[in-house]
Amino acid sequence: MTSSAPQKRLYIKTYGCQMNVYDSERMADVLRPLGYGVTDTPEGADLVVLNTCHIREKATEKVYSELGRIKRMKARRADAGGEMVVAVAGCVAQAEGAEIMARQPAVDLVVGPQAYHQLPELIARAHRKSGERLSADFAADEKFDALPAARATEGFTAFLTVQEGCDKFCTFCVVPYTRGAEYSRPATAIEDEARRLADQGVREVTLLGQNVNAYDGGDGQGLAGLVRRLAKVPGLDRIRYTTSHPADMDEALIAAHGEIEALMPYLHLPVQAGSDKVLKAMNRAHTADSYLRLIERIRAARPDIALSGDFIVGFPGERDADFEATLNLVREVGYASAFSFKYSRRPGTPAAAMTGQVADAVKEERLARLQALLEEQQSAFNQAQAGRVLPVLFERAGRKAGQVVGRSPYLQPVHMEGPADLIGQIAPVRIVSATRGSLAAEPAPQGSAPQRVAEAV
Ligand code: 5AD
Ligand code: SF4
Repeated sequence: MTSSAPQKRLYIKTYGCQMNVYDSERMADVLRPLGYGVTDTPEGADLVVLNTCHIREKATEKVYSELGRIKRMKARRADAGGEMVVAVAGCVAQAEGAEIMARQPAVDLVVGPQAYHQLPELIARAHRKSGERLSADFAADEKFDALPAARATEGFTAFLTVQEGCDKFCTFCVVPYTRGAEYSRPATAIEDEARRLADQGVREVTLLGQNVNAYDGGDGQGLAGLVRRLAKVPGLDRIRYTTSHPADMDEALIAAHGEIEALMPYLHLPVQAGSDKVLKAMNRAHTADSYLRLIERIRAARPDIALSGDFIVGFPGERDADFEATLNLVREVGYASAFSFKYSRRPGTPAAAMTGQVADAVKEERLARLQALLEEQQSAFNQAQAGRVLPVLFERAGRKAGQVVGRSPYLQPVHMEGPADLIGQIAPVRIVSATRGSLAAEPAPQGSAPQRVAEAV
């Protein structure tokens, strides 16, 4: 933190995944030395950055409607004799480039996910109204080398990007085009960043990557090696990682779940669908059965692991029987949480050109059925914690006075009446009740040790 108050106001709106959350924080870090301080409203800001998501059509549309609103604010600011620079960052920037400025002239600059270190130069050009105001290269190594070492982190949990891009080319997905080829950051750079975060009081890191379990630090140790290394960083008590591909879930990583105390028992492992015909058309490189066997091996290593997934309904060619296979797979796995979507046709992806596109009403109905089942499972998973003692990392004060809020090892939000000095601590609590979305707790009786779910049943 600088001692003088920031003179310029920066508003960043983040859409989409956690990688964008990380990137937004890093953009603020790049801009801080230039005198920009973060504000939580775009009205009157000197610089507005929309960090965008392109994964589904709806996400992209949202960006353009927000830009319409920003345009009016920019005009008001100009009327008042000020200037507002409008930047579009993230995956829409990467995918649509100069088209964005053509469609919405209020946009001053466009910066792709690998080019955030070039923001100061792009902003200077926007002020001068001269020079190229689009940067969308794919040089992930340059980006990480050029980002400032210091991160402004206030909380006790943080995201840490370790890998970017994807080589999997699932036929529905834009990520390989917007984020480029797989790139892994060197383990030493990641460890340095983790140590600095721990020094700033962070107790839990979530390692991020579009395909994080394909992490390859060049030492043959993969993500498991990186997790082992980070588990030794003093102060880092909890490690998570997301998002993983079933094909990259190697034995070392599975074993790590049984061996490394700091590695939390939660795994987001998208399957997308339960029909082998659909999985093949999606180019997923696994079958329903190979996924189920994989889950068995993971559960053998860590019986209480909470599983989460992503699902797409209404992929081209999906018949009723295929959808039933998805429901059956969900019943067999038993998810603790999940994200599910209607297939969205993305221009330029192979699936967009496939025959057998599914009517929206059918997608809608399938999504409702799938979500009802997933919600039932989530409730059951949460209810099953009642009566157990779990270690909770308390992160902040709750909405109600005298309440603190944290996360269980299984990533469930936990609420408790308790003193504010619990914030930043990992404390054993007894779960007293559960809803679909969260748990309520009371301080654990003296001397009770946290239990794993598998031990308690
Ligand atoms: N339509 C619907 N959902 C999609 N996803 C990715 N691309 C699409 C698409 N075209 C979902 C997948 C992925 C998650 C991040 O978003 O389930 O795992
Ligand atoms: Fe997209 Fe598939 Fe890569 Fe995930 S693994 S980012 S769904 S292409």
